[in-house]
Amino acid sequence: MSGAVPSGFLALPRVDPTLASQIQDDLEKVEELLRESVRSSDPLLTEAASHLLAAGGKRFRAMLVLLAAHFGDPRVPDLIPAAAVVELTHVATLYHDDVMDEAELRRGKPSANQRWGNTIAILTGDFVFAKASTMLADLGTEAVRLQAETFARLVQGQILETSGPRDGVDPLDHYLNVIDDKTASLIASSAEFGGMFGKVDPETVSTLTRACDALGMAFQLADDILDVASESDESGKVPGTDLREGVLTLPMFYAMRSQEAADERLKSMLGRPLGDEEAEEALALLRPHPAMAEADATLRGWADKARQELSTLPDIPARDAFLALCDYVVERNG
Ligand code: IPE
Ligand code: IPE
Ligand code: MG
Ligand code: MG
Repeated sequence: MSGAVPSGFLALPRVDPTLASQIQDDLEKVEELLRESVRSSDPLLTEAASHLLAAGGKRFRAMLVLLAAHFGDPRVPDLIPAAAVVELTHVATLYHDDVMDEAELRRGKPSANQRWGNTIAILTGDFVFAKASTMLADLGTEAVRLQAETFARLVQGQILETSGPRDGVDPLDHYLNVIDDKTASLIASSAEFGGMFGKVDPETVSTLTRACDALGMAFQLADDILDVASESDESGKVPGTDLREGVLTLPMFYAMRSQEAADERLKSMLGRPLGDEEAEEALALLRPHPAMAEADATLRGWADKARQELSTLPDIPARDAFLALCDYVVERNG
């Protein structure tokens, strides 16, 4: 494999090798465009904006754009910049997310905020977002609108996560809305972009978008479970970041429902910022807790919902690849 496209899911057993190699070739083109797009006349800005792209990442959203187009015409040249736009939008949000979450590690490397401080990290995220907008300008107003609406939802999700549920709103419903807005929205619109540029028929685009919304829910639930369960060398992030920041996620909601006296200590630590010692203690209590298996079952439910949507689509290799992604999202460890 040339370049830095770590698209391991293309090697999944259910993915047709011809399809995988077409997508791999296109991802290489996306990669080149990504690399070029973040250059600036200022060396520090170029370095900071290239930092996360060079560090790795799965290019999951770019791959979804390309894969969705296989239900129509996957050879439309605009698919490459469309895939780059969603990936740049994603990367821009990671710069900002790591500031908000005070995260130290991203893609196995020091986060931009850790390396250069919050000011540079925020401005770099803005720069990357601006570069996505420049690329979008050549893709037409419909694409600009879709990306803008998605980005607005993403920001809303991040705000809702910070502000917490309003009075009378069920905290678990609130959490599910948050992850739909902050994560599933971009994953769903990646498929929509692929459908739009790949001239896929509108009904199939709607089905793919709904399937990828459910897939996106599963994707974030897996991320939240991994934040508790993973070792950092697998995820490239520091485990326990949500616990440390007092961000409540699904396994924590399930643990909080417990009436067991033995869970009182854990419950007292959830949903508030924790120092290193308490975070380690909370992690050690949550990892073996039945709430983890319960969260896993919910994650599988969302993956099943995605599979159900996909089952109505024509039986072509791209559908099998999407189904394989449903397995991948449930099983992933990074
Ligand atoms: C991380 O997304 C942020 C979430 C929405 C969970 P990814 O898991 O796709 O991150 P990269 O792009 O592979 O680093
Ligand atoms: C990611 O949320 C959502 C966005 C970046 C918009 P998280 O904060 O849960 O993601 P990670 O775990 O840092 O990747
Ligand atoms: Mg984060
Ligand atoms: Mg976050």
